[in-house]
Amino acid sequence: MADWHKSDWRTKPRVQMPDYLDDAELKAVEAKLASYPPLVFAGEARRLKAQLGAASRGEAFLLQGGDCAESFEQFSADGIRDTFKVMLQMAMVLTYGAKVPVVKVGRMAGQFAKPRSAPTESVDGVELPSYRGDIINELDFTPESRIPNPNKMLQAYTQAAATLNLLRAFSTGGYADVHQVHSWTLGFTEGENATKYRDMANRISDTLDFMKAAGVTSDRLHSLQTVDFYTSHESLLLEYEEALTRLDSTSGKWLAGSGHMIWIGDRTRQPDGAHVEFARGVQNPVGLKCGPTTTAEDLKILMEKLNPENEAGRLTLIARFGAGSVGDHLPRLVKAVQEEGANVLWTCDPMHGNTIKSATGYKTRPFDSVLREVREFFGVHKAEGTIPGGVHFEMTGQDVTECTGGVRAVTEEDLSARYHTACDPRLNASQSLELAFLVAEELSNRDQEQAVRAV
Ligand code: PEP
Ligand code: CO
Repeated sequence: MADWHKSDWRTKPRVQMPDYLDDAELKAVEAKLASYPPLVFAGEARRLKAQLGAASRGEAFLLQGGDCAESFEQFSADGIRDTFKVMLQMAMVLTYGAKVPVVKVGRMAGQFAKPRSAPTESVDGVELPSYRGDIINELDFTPESRIPNPNKMLQAYTQAAATLNLLRAFSTGGYADVHQVHSWTLGFTEGENATKYRDMANRISDTLDFMKAAGVTSDRLHSLQTVDFYTSHESLLLEYEEALTRLDSTSGKWLAGSGHMIWIGDRTRQPDGAHVEFARGVQNPVGLKCGPTTTAEDLKILMEKLNPENEAGRLTLIARFGAGSVGDHLPRLVKAVQEEGANVLWTCDPMHGNTIKSATGYKTRPFDSVLREVREFFGVHKAEGTIPGGVHFEMTGQDVTECTGGVRAVTEEDLSARYHTACDPRLNASQSLELAFLVAEELSNRDQEQAVRAV
């Protein structure tokens, strides 16, 4: 973009960003980050964009998932491996349902900064600034912990680089082999109450057996052993984003080097604000959260700003309305997209509109509400004749107790047992895979509808 520079956001109104106390310290961190290598490369972002373009046409399906907020304290190889593993299992089940490739994008290797609904929080009459993610301040409820510290950006960068390194190794080093991934899934369907998913798992087994008999094996077909796995995060902390933004010499275009895909949150999507200004100028695929307050007029302005050339795969609209409300909001936005003839990928985030406080005092999300929102999302697209192209989950491969429900039936009383999230409640491994089976059922209906339309 010729009329754009990576620092232009500084001239626009900003919200949800910290006020650092020491400007010299901030400048030193920015200079250091700007001298470090980018984490991702332009060719990768372009490849992801092409795959998201395919998803917007129903020729692929997007699975985006990971932590609400990555944490410094909980950073471990096992944590990364487990989330990667369950996402591969989900992707395989979804591929079977959709009959198209599943594009895998982690909320990983950069998902550190959090927008908050209130600038302060109170505990027992004590009021302190809100926690804004490990890249900004600390979760502990003390005045010192809540002071924003720019040096945390350097730790976030290092953690993101190490996470991405491991993800790249897992993606190509044999761990992602299709037979291994399926054997994990068979383990899940043998569990108590999960037998209703065994039928689909057995059909996948049959397909793999057939392929083997026909000579399509992992040692002969490299693509059965490796996967493409991409990273994404909310581009909220713009000092960090700017410092990692580079001019790509091949295309002459800017690239946000902090992750393959970035998104704009529901609280920072002001058309004239800093976050839209930043995202507008980089060539990465961009996501835009659409919530109950998104108007058709704003969406039209935002589509024009964020995707002026109407490029397929550039813009993903992430609908997050809440179960029971999708029908009140999604149709007007789908119409706005149609009126503009805009190319967008529609995906469903059934997490952020379904957060409640449990009777036991924990922030939670009922599995049934999450599933209901996904079904409503598919229902509206069916009625409008448009394409439900993906899902976006807050999830982890670990056996946490943060969302209620699922076949292993986490109850409100169970929440305290393994409640580890630094921010919003995540689906655990079993809930994530179960949801994938249920979405796969919706997708096999989509596949049939597409086939009927094509006749
Ligand atoms: C998030 O994705 O973690 C988030 C804060 O979402 P939203 O902006 O949609 O509320
Ligand atoms: Co969240």
